Amino acid sequence: MPYFSFHHSEPTRKKTTQAVFYTTLVKKMKVLVATEKPFAKVAVDGIREVVEGAGYELALLEKYTEKQQLLEAVADADALIIRSDKVDAEVLDAAKQLKIVVRAGAGYDNIDLAAATAHKVVAMNTPGQNSNAVAELALGLMVYAVRNFYNGTSGTELLGKKLGIHAFGNVGRNVARIAKGFGMEVYAYDAYCPDEAMTAAGVTPVHSAEELYSTCNIVSLHIPATAETKESINHDLVGRMPKGGILVNTARKEVINEEELIALMQERTDLKYITDIMPVADAKFRTLFENRYFATPKKMGAQTAEANINAGIAAAKQIVDFIENGNTRFQVNK
Ligand code: 3PG
Repeated sequence: MPYFSFHHSEPTRKKTTQAVFYTTLVKKMKVLVATEKPFAKVAVDGIREVVEGAGYELALLEKYTEKQQLLEAVADADALIIRSDKVDAEVLDAAKQLKIVVRAGAGYDNIDLAAATAHKVVAMNTPGQNSNAVAELALGLMVYAVRNFYNGTSGTELLGKKLGIHAFGNVGRNVARIAKGFGMEVYAYDAYCPDEAMTAAGVTPVHSAEELYSTCNIVSLHIPATAETKESINHDLVGRMPKGGILVNTARKEVINEEELIALMQERTDLKYITDIMPVADAKFRTLFENRYFATPKKMGAQTAEANINAGIAAAKQIVDFIENGNTRFQVNK
């Protein structure tokens, strides 16, 4: 018996000349995948296999451009898989059947958790599933930065440089692993992570963000966007970096105090800012810092077939496990 009785079985009689047949009218549980930035096809195929294998129906809303499209698509969805797609009170109001939303990825700042709880909707993420992809991109951006955006001029190497990992979660740990392969000296700051976890990974723990930025040639951001971290990467912190410092952001644009970073980069013409999340002030950064600023056109850290498969299928499995067994292990609005 499923944890939720979504299957409304109503036996009905149909008379024929031969016999009486019983048919069962079943309302299938509907899982909507709503991704403004779609998963690779192979990941969607994997999600479909899990969803249909459980006897549920899969609906797809990809590359949508208007919120209205999402509002219409969620109307009869029982479960929802999203990426950075925003699920706010309006979406939850429109999703009258919704029981669960799973953010296929790590950061769930795009879900209004209080509204989800008020609507009795379970919200989950899929921690760790796309972290290698993001970490690989972070190192790729570092190489791009130290080689002067591949503009033909002489750059520097990562070997022997000091890398600061700001937050030692799933992505930070993968960044450390790969950076050590480059021969970098790796430091990390994470108020919520014990020193032992860092030292076991061959990483030197530091005990404040200030110390991390003062120590490292390159800082890679892996903090979530929360009330505490919003605009916390500011003039004071980045201004502590040694000459030629590079800030790499594969986390969230909200953690940057953009105006303060712009002011700092005007004062310190040696600093570079490389980001996978286009700032609100992208045009200003682009105009002012032609050879010191780069932003990907669309967040692409987790945009690999492997990450899509890992996160998408994990999301589908978590939905089935929740519906069938009530498993709330990855719930983030408890
Ligand atoms: C995450 O939080 O998992 C990453 O930022 C990836 O986000 P995306 O699924 O929108 O690419």
